[in-house]
Amino acid sequence: MATVFVSRALPGDALERLRAAHAVTVWGEALPPPPEALREAVGSAEGLLCLLTDRVDAALLDAAPRLRAIANYAVGTDNIDLELTAARGIPVGVTPDVLTEATADLAFALLLAAARRLPEASAAARAGLWRTWEPAGWLGADVDGATLGIIGFGRIGRAVARRAAGFRMTVVTTADTPLEELLAASDFVTLHCPLTPLTHHLIDAAALARMRPNAILVNTARGGVVDQRALIEALERGVIAGAAIDVTDPEPPPPDDPIFATANLIVSPHIGSATRSARARMTELAVENLLAALDGRPMPHPAR
Ligand code: DGY
Repeated sequence: MATVFVSRALPGDALERLRAAHAVTVWGEALPPPPEALREAVGSAEGLLCLLTDRVDAALLDAAPRLRAIANYAVGTDNIDLELTAARGIPVGVTPDVLTEATADLAFALLLAAARRLPEASAAARAGLWRTWEPAGWLGADVDGATLGIIGFGRIGRAVARRAAGFRMTVVTTADTPLEELLAASDFVTLHCPLTPLTHHLIDAAALARMRPNAILVNTARGGVVDQRALIEALERGVIAGAAIDVTDPEPPPPDDPIFATANLIVSPHIGSATRSARARMTELAVENLLAALDGRPMPHPAR
């Protein structure tokens, strides 16, 4: 029986399987453990089930001398120093596939909401501004037949492309088109690449300037892929028409962050995988990863 720390209560019942095999402690607060609390909690842990809000760096690993398995409750791994975990021989697992469709749905929901100005229109109706049917009221952009640029053509990017086919969109991707061409050709640009040193601020002021003035940017990947300050400036100056982002840098943004005051910008609180079944399946995969590694077997869903 190993000692396992789980850094938040998780949906579904898979944690029971972990509890049946190991001594499990779950961080019971609504907010993540602060770094010092996390370091203390992993002091005697052999297994760690962590979230994208937990930074797994040298300080954490130094505080966890017995750690031999890490299961991230996410498909992304930018919160984990993978070079360091590899150097220390600690396997890291992720939760692929089970959140692909949910995240692609949200990307498309954001795209449609931004195109059709849904939050503004809904807020106006609630505020009593729906006076009559207005021929020129709440005009938005066509999605049908538009060009969609997909940056990052992995599992989620491909799932978004499948949805785009239903809207008869022309799809260009970074798998077949250079980034600069994709930006210039697209009415909508959606991000599905991991956050790495190479993709950090991939969408900066120069990239935004290459986009069409009618273009809408959708980000369900990681906040750090976009230079947020440049995005706000581009929206304010009309360089692009709109954006809808599910991820920010940092998360959450401070309450007075300009992203909450920028017109034509929809912000949702990192809910790409937030369907009941996706989140429960993520718990199952994370538990399978830990059970395997603590048993000396390869993780079924290793980070790459
Ligand atoms: C992930 O898995 O990386 C998402 O951002 C959260 O589900």
